[in-house]
Amino acid sequence: PTLTKFVDQLPIPKQIAVNTTEISIAAWKIKQKLHRDLPPTTLYAYGESQETAVYPGPTLEAKMDVTSRIHWDNHIPDEEHFLPLDRSIHWANPKRGGVPTVVHLHGAETESIHDGHPEAWWTPKGEHGPTYVTQHNSYPNTQRPAMLWYHDHAVGITRLNVVAGLSGLYFLRSPEDKLTKQFPYGEYEIPLVFKDWQFWPNGSINFPNVGDNATIHPSWCPEYFGDTILVNGKVWPYLDLQPRVYRFRVLNGGNARFFNFTLSDPSLRFHKIGTDGGYLDTKPQILSSLLLAPAERLDILVDFSGLKPGDVVFLNNSAPAPFPDGDDSFNPAQILSQPENSKLMEMLQQQQQQGDTSNDSSAPVLRHRQIRLREFDDSNNDPTVSLLENRRWLDAVREFPVEGSVEVWEWINTTPDAHPIHMHLIQFQVLNQQPFNTTWYLNGRCNITVDFPKPGTCFTGPPIPPEIYQTGFKDTAVVSPNFVTRYRIHFQTSDGRDFPFDPTLGPGYVFHCHILDHEDNDMMRPFKVVHAKK
Ligand code: C2O
Ligand code: CU
Repeated sequence: PTLTKFVDQLPIPKQIAVNTTEISIAAWKIKQKLHRDLPPTTLYAYGESQETAVYPGPTLEAKMDVTSRIHWDNHIPDEEHFLPLDRSIHWANPKRGGVPTVVHLHGAETESIHDGHPEAWWTPKGEHGPTYVTQHNSYPNTQRPAMLWYHDHAVGITRLNVVAGLSGLYFLRSPEDKLTKQFPYGEYEIPLVFKDWQFWPNGSINFPNVGDNATIHPSWCPEYFGDTILVNGKVWPYLDLQPRVYRFRVLNGGNARFFNFTLSDPSLRFHKIGTDGGYLDTKPQILSSLLLAPAERLDILVDFSGLKPGDVVFLNNSAPAPFPDGDDSFNPAQILSQPENSKLMEMLQQQQQQGDTSNDSSAPVLRHRQIRLREFDDSNNDPTVSLLENRRWLDAVREFPVEGSVEVWEWINTTPDAHPIHMHLIQFQVLNQQPFNTTWYLNGRCNITVDFPKPGTCFTGPPIPPEIYQTGFKDTAVVSPNFVTRYRIHFQTSDGRDFPFDPTLGPGYVFHCHILDHEDNDMMRPFKVVHAKK
């Protein structure tokens, strides 16, 4: 259906404080009105009760160093998912039926039994996945303040559960953060959760039930791209603005679509002050556009004080889908100079002074790991699977980083697409990226361990600095095709402390592509943290 744009007001998800007193949040089956002219849509959504469950779920407000305790539950009554399962990929597959769920707090530094391990799912009938330990989860919140998000992570059906609506925001705030009140707050600090969906005229979600490569995966499609963009659960909503500075906390909550945001008024700029893992520790970036891959977050200031009553500003998206080789052309962000505004400049200087430099980038690197991204196609050139390390999810663990150490993980992307590669447990920084020749590399004609410009190297140039969209503390970063992208990972908290729990216990952690359709079909691998040998 063609839906009229900008007829619904932007909703703001309700906030719930979380702390050491346990609260209960469950997944429910609901109907929700997503647009004025669209009949209510069937969703799975989080809430304290069926009546209050909504997409996005309640925004959880947590305090730094105060453990939050949440009892996650599942009250989805369906015997089978209302979206098309693909039984040819490894999935939770409960013997007694029902929709399996497990909750991951994305970006949180958490003990692995509380991390929402993909095989730790459960169903309303009490059936459990093999790594299930508990639904009473606690999050120590001992990391840099940031906007995290929670979403379902059940193995092989994460894409369906997240498309169905199982996600919400989680703000970790520090009472010591003087910037909180320097920057716009309250009604002027606005979360924006983006998601793309496609609908049938009756309001239900249109999710393809025939796969691209139907003989191999009957209903798995390599990427779900919806043609309708929702923000905070409304189709193309509007927001009434006052002529002042706003702070936007932005999440790409979609399955596969990248966004490249621009503002229709060329005098307006994005002032990027933070990313996935918290504030930038460099000076704010003043930008013409913002690239945002699935699961990435941005912390942005925009100064609308020059606007007059009646002025209208559009937030546009120009990212190709799939990214970056889809149909549209893509203009990368430019760093812009700042038009005069003394109040905003003052705020931004404060941020720079308070920027956290506790993550000591001089610590020595203990080891390098190389992880290849590889796509396999069927005879029609349709992707059948993308793998990491040439291995499946269920293959044995190979990565055993040492607690407290620094490692560099090198992602060798031999596929034609960019993949947002996410790591659980830690926030990392992108060190650099280096172009290489994929064809030579896959033909074994060169070596990636030989550096440019020595003979026999696969590299076609020296390392280059991270892109603007790769800077800052990240838990998910864009790994571009024909590049080796290097993550510098310190296996400690993002504010430079030891983990307040033993990260070597439990089922371990995972890294994966956050294109959920890829993640569900084996583009996910385990890792286990170990203690330093005495
Ligand atoms: Cu946002 Cu492993 O997930
Ligand atoms: Cu991917």
